[in-house]
Amino acid sequence: MLHNLLPIFSQSLKPPLFEPGEPRFWDDPYISKSMLEAHLNQSHDGASRRNVEIEKTVRHLITSGFLKTGDRVLDLGCGPGLYSSRLCFECMKVTGIDLSRRSIDYARVQAERDGNDIDYICADFFNIDYKETFDAVLQVYGEICTFSNEKRDLLLSLVHRTLKDNGIFIFDVSTRELRMREGLKNRWYFSEGGFWRPGRHLVLEEGFDYPEDDTWLNQYIIMDEDGTVKVYRLWLHDYSFETISLTLEKSGFRVEQAWNSLSGESYRKGGDWIAIAARKV
Ligand SMILES: C[S@@+](CC[C@H](N)C(=O)[O-])C[C@H]1O[C@@H](n2cnc3c(N)ncnc32)[C@H](O)[C@@H]1O
Repeated sequence: MLHNLLPIFSQSLKPPLFEPGEPRFWDDPYISKSMLEAHLNQSHDGASRRNVEIEKTVRHLITSGFLKTGDRVLDLGCGPGLYSSRLCFECMKVTGIDLSRRSIDYARVQAERDGNDIDYICADFFNIDYKETFDAVLQVYGEICTFSNEKRDLLLSLVHRTLKDNGIFIFDVSTRELRMREGLKNRWYFSEGGFWRPGRHLVLEEGFDYPEDDTWLNQYIIMDEDGTVKVYRLWLHDYSFETISLTLEKSGFRVEQAWNSLSGESYRKGGDWIAIAARKV
């Protein structure tokens, strides 16, 4: 039994910044099922925001003029298509890309049921190869925060290339304020089956702070009954208005508008989120 615990000892040390954990999370056959349930759950905002907030966001982006009828919109990390389907309803031509086969399959079934003509693609958005194709690129729920500076800059360059001249990139980032409240705290529990595994397993949760890099790691060590240990890492690089503005500037964008939420809450320093509309220059 003791030898089963050895990987836990080594894995629970603070890892170097952005050291990857298990490669399969979003597209793991079991976890993606839990994830889809979380996306659709209206009692919390765990994986997607609730429908009321999504509706407010779409209304706000249209009334503020950042999205309009006829626009070609790319929804990067579209999940089960909660935003894509609303934008299609508003007569935009939408392409949604996501790594999760389960989410894309769900989104396609919904689109077919509702007669929505949406191009859903199951792919890694780091492999997109569009050139000046879209009026707007949308990336909702802090996805950009999960990447190292190098990967983030690569993603920004792909988004830049994908947008038409003067196109708009709309996204949100979390802040240090949110992390200080919600960063994972150390705890452990046994589960009889839940988010991570269908059967009995042990979960060790740990939070690691990298304050000099505005980065936090939520780490989950999962041990199955047969002693198999896997470590999942969710890296979160938080931003301030100044750091995200500078980052965008370096990648050929100009911040046109910032809010505290994509649904249009006015920007004030100290909020949990910063939502941005950045123009390709
Ligand atoms: C927090 S969820 C947000 C989903 C959706 N934007 C929403 O707010 O409802 C992040 C999504 O990004 C997807 N994702 C993560 N990395 C990805 C990648 N490299 N390529 C494509 N999709 C990715 C995940 O599968 C997941 O559906």
